[in-house]
Amino acid sequence: MIKNIAVLGMQWGDEGKGKIVDLLSKNSNYVVRYQGGNNAGHTLLVDKKKTILHLIPSCVLYKNVKAVLGNGVVVSLPDLVKEINFLKKNKIFIQDRLILSNSISLIFEYHISLDRAREKNKESKIIGTTHKGIGPAYEDKIARRSIRISDLYDTNYFSYILKKNVHYYNFQLVNYFKKNPVSYKKIYFDSLKYFNKIKNMIQDVSKLLNKKIKKKSKIIFEGAQGSLLDIDYGTYPYVSSSNSSIGGIITGTGLGIKNINYIMGISKVYTTRVGNGPFPTELFNDVHKYLCKIGKEFGSTTGRKRRTGWLDLVLLKRMIKINSISGLCLTKLDVLDNLNEIKVCIKYINKFSKKEINFYPITQKDWEEIIPVYKVFKGWKKSIRGIVLFKDLPVLTQKYISFIKNFIKIDIDLISTGPERNNTIFINNKIKTFVNYKN
Ligand code: GDP
Ligand code: IMO
Ligand code: MG
Repeated sequence: MIKNIAVLGMQWGDEGKGKIVDLLSKNSNYVVRYQGGNNAGHTLLVDKKKTILHLIPSCVLYKNVKAVLGNGVVVSLPDLVKEINFLKKNKIFIQDRLILSNSISLIFEYHISLDRAREKNKESKIIGTTHKGIGPAYEDKIARRSIRISDLYDTNYFSYILKKNVHYYNFQLVNYFKKNPVSYKKIYFDSLKYFNKIKNMIQDVSKLLNKKIKKKSKIIFEGAQGSLLDIDYGTYPYVSSSNSSIGGIITGTGLGIKNINYIMGISKVYTTRVGNGPFPTELFNDVHKYLCKIGKEFGSTTGRKRRTGWLDLVLLKRMIKINSISGLCLTKLDVLDNLNEIKVCIKYINKFSKKEINFYPITQKDWEEIIPVYKVFKGWKKSIRGIVLFKDLPVLTQKYISFIKNFIKIDIDLISTGPERNNTIFINNKIKTFVNYKN
């Protein structure tokens, strides 16, 4: 029986991971974020009430489930406390069931200032980041310059390394980017103020989870971003700065690979992207306007309008392999309801030779030279919103889903037919049993 599930985005983020993690959380024991930071925006909709989470795992609506941030996550203490307080205002009390790894790398004001300064600088490559300081914070980790959460227990040491880092960052901010410096004093006192509010949540997460797994606890690993934003396997350099693919779970929690029983890939039935970078199936026509409007495609973190395009099965197949996905969850099927025709990309050809491309594009030139080839489906032109049984879907919808399944050669275990928790089709008992089984 499945005990532990990883939920991974297969595209450029916003696939609906939050909705699915919330759905799976019922009766689970721990939900763990292991990479990324508050660049994420995960939306839960239950009984018409919307909750958007950025850093705290998407299990908050179930009082018995513990929320964990592993060592691979980067955390801004002021933003973390803000999110805890925001939930408190909404009568969601998380402080007694939120657990923070003792080796989390912190995001400070200088990371955010540098992220912003770079994105405004004409000479930099503009990624279109969320301006949350994610890139610079992960750079510090790799450069062995990070200040980690446990460093704040020792105020003398914290003061010493913070001074060094502020000096280093202010040099860049002022001299290269011509921006204002950040204040060491303000960061020092603010950080300790916020640290005091959360320090009782700090633990050795690796030790805790290894122990709980032995005791057969049910654990969900909640991915942030999507595999196409992965620092190694995504559309580099237009990516985020963490491993949002499967490897992030291992490095970001301190658990071994054998502990993940089922890896769920989440993909919309079309594609969206926020920020810059390659997007072979991107649309600029009325269908784009339709998808934005009906799919409400606006970023939950930055409010930016998302770019939209058709489902890209070439990229999906690649992401399934990279992550060794066990089964797929397709989301936002209802958004396609009123389209006359629906396309899916089944291969790429070279723009000049017209020959099929049989490699994953790496360079900017590779991406520029490909053209997607589509298979076209007739639209079902009927509302499928909220349908919970596969057999109740129109025949044309069933055919569309079956084509995807046969093409990618993997089971589709869940289909989401609306944003509400219960707008979901369980194709078989695999996931249903996981949700309903109590430890
Ligand atoms: P995440 O970052 O992967 O958690 O996804 P987001 O929450 O950023 O974006 C997904 C959006 O789609 C949210 O507004 C969800 O409420 C919504 N959503 C999720 N599943 C469905 C679905 O099946 N149909 C529709 N119409 N909306 C959905
Ligand atoms: P969830 O978890 C969509 C994108 C940004 C930008 C790039 C780098 O909600 O799916 P960063 O601030 O991380 O350095 O930005 O990554 N990005 C996301 N896009 N969903 C997200 O998270 C994202 N997190 C980062 O738009 O293109
Ligand atoms: Mg999102």
